[in-house]
Amino acid sequence: MSKEKILVTSALPYANGNIHLGHLSGAYLPADIYVRYKRLKGDDVLYICGSDEHGVPITISADKENVTPQEIIDRYHNQNKKAFEKFGMSFDIYSRTSLPTHHETAQKFFTSFYQQGLLEEKKTKQYYDIKAKMFLPDRYVEGTCPKCGFEEARSDECENCGSLYDASELKNPKSKITGDTPELKETSHWYFPLGKYQERLEKYIDEMNETYKWKENVLQYCRGWFKDGLKDRAVTRDLDWGVKVPLADAEGKVLYVWFEAVLGYISATKEYSDSIGKKELWKDYWQNSDTKYLAFIGKDNIVFHTIIFPAMLMAWNDGNADKYILPQNVPANEFLNFEGKKFSKSRGWGINADEFLELFPADSLRYALAANLPENKDTDFYWKEFQAKNNSELADILGNFVNRTFIFASKHFDGKVPPLKNTKPIDDEMLKLIKNHPAKVGKLLEQYKIRDAVFEMMNLARAGNKYFNDSEPWETVKNNKDDCGTTLNVCLQTIYELAIILSPVIPNTAEKLLTMLNAEEVEWDKSGYGNLKAGHNLNKSELLFTKIEDEVIDVQINKLPKEEDDKKKIHEITFEEFTKVDLKTAKIISAERIEKSDKLLKLQVKVGKKKKQIVAGLAKSYKPAELIDKKVIVVANLKPAKLFGTESQGMLLAVENAEGELNIIEVPDTVKEGTKVK
Ligand code: 2FM
Ligand code: ZN
Repeated sequence: MSKEKILVTSALPYANGNIHLGHLSGAYLPADIYVRYKRLKGDDVLYICGSDEHGVPITISADKENVTPQEIIDRYHNQNKKAFEKFGMSFDIYSRTSLPTHHETAQKFFTSFYQQGLLEEKKTKQYYDIKAKMFLPDRYVEGTCPKCGFEEARSDECENCGSLYDASELKNPKSKITGDTPELKETSHWYFPLGKYQERLEKYIDEMNETYKWKENVLQYCRGWFKDGLKDRAVTRDLDWGVKVPLADAEGKVLYVWFEAVLGYISATKEYSDSIGKKELWKDYWQNSDTKYLAFIGKDNIVFHTIIFPAMLMAWNDGNADKYILPQNVPANEFLNFEGKKFSKSRGWGINADEFLELFPADSLRYALAANLPENKDTDFYWKEFQAKNNSELADILGNFVNRTFIFASKHFDGKVPPLKNTKPIDDEMLKLIKNHPAKVGKLLEQYKIRDAVFEMMNLARAGNKYFNDSEPWETVKNNKDDCGTTLNVCLQTIYELAIILSPVIPNTAEKLLTMLNAEEVEWDKSGYGNLKAGHNLNKSELLFTKIEDEVIDVQINKLPKEEDDKKKIHEITFEEFTKVDLKTAKIISAERIEKSDKLLKLQVKVGKKKKQIVAGLAKSYKPAELIDKKVIVVANLKPAKLFGTESQGMLLAVENAEGELNIIEVPDTVKEGTKVK
């Protein structure tokens, strides 16, 4: 196959906090593994990342600490850059969006859209916090929902009942920054006509998917957006911190952070080109139809990379002679949780990458995360699982295989590779495996099935151990040294291949293996048999992995905030209050999906003689048909509310497991529907 030109980006993390394990699993480790693999395939790969240094939260952090936003971004940019290095990220550049090149690039895009007449200026009313002297983004305003009375509703949408309303309808609005009541103030913003691009975007995604097979989670998300219909989006904000709007009458306005952040990939590539003295090189990637562009992200970034960024590139291409390429694939991951819960800085739940890497080797973390990537659904990091991956797989399988092979070669073959003589079926089988394994693992990586690929990588070490055991070199060394030499030859060639195919995941260990083998890195496709000649001198072996003791892991587990701490925060209710909740048994008589929602199902239930319609968030855990005839418990006196435009007249009790799946609480079939639950 001819060599590919590949541009890879990972989401630019905000320079407003430290990178944690969840970030690493979402957009960074999978991309790094892919990039390292492609480099070993001999492809021309450029891997771009950097800090996203604008947006309101950065200004709020700065105000809280009474420092400048620049101080905040410098701090986190440097800390995150170091943490990524320690983790072994192989970016060609880790740039930042506060640099002049980025500001110029983003302004150029805005100006082009403006000059093409694409942007429309619209007047709107927005909440303004007088004390903080700023317009408040939606998530910084909280109040009472005008529809259901929920007290923590956002300024224009209620999380409780799903209604959308005008910001002016929100009752009792409060600024989440100062706690003051904000006032509605008129402002004007520039809007990008996203709707105009809907047809082209749908076609683009269909075509890309047809040829390059996009992930189902990404496609589903996009379909949801298209179904709702794309709307105009404001691309400016009233803020001091950010990329200034390049218009004469736009004092105090900056480009919306997402509008410019995605362009950060382009400006970071320009920075890279400048840094190596090849000013025009970036065009060879971004403006070359032969380049395959892959954007690695977490699921919260999907719309920006599959819809908004492509639309912006289309808009640029329509009005300019130089044309950009669009993402060929956006292999977004779901989320990694931590010990059963979401990472939370404020609750002290989780661990940052730099803290982790102070305690344990990067390769142990890389392996454990890679084996458990949230590729199709959310997954969890558990300390005990991390320990098991390190001890039972890295140390006991890989470490043991390498160690016993090297000790044997040193003791009985003078630290040299013995020749391969008179192979038997057991050797031929192992040689066949070595020959075919790189292609097998490679195929999985090409499909972004990194978890499966990691499993297959370790399978080669598993097979190596089995081969060593079954060949019994400790016997043959006594009575058939040639056979013994053949076994060792095959084992050493297997280790060579392991050093190559495992290197995208555990690069430091791979390097150690090559040093021990006294050998150079070879291309992925050449990592099969034949790289070590008979008589080749090996170096001394070294310990690859140290086992992690229970006490060491227990220290980490004990550091986590305790359940009791959480409970203390729980609001207690009286018995009388509890009796107000009318819990009844009910039978589900029909269930169907709700359009536009990937979570909700519409159920009809029978509570005694009455029928009720309940909208429940069960779609990810149950197929509608599975629910029919099940007897469940419902809250029968819940005030009706609308969810996704569908009325819900109750609630159904369910428990959530560690994977986030819901299990409905079922009652025995002998209990009649409509029975009170006490
Ligand atoms: O979610 C985030 O952390 C964003 N800063 C990602 C931006 S990706 C791209 F647009 F730069
Ligand atoms: Zn509501």
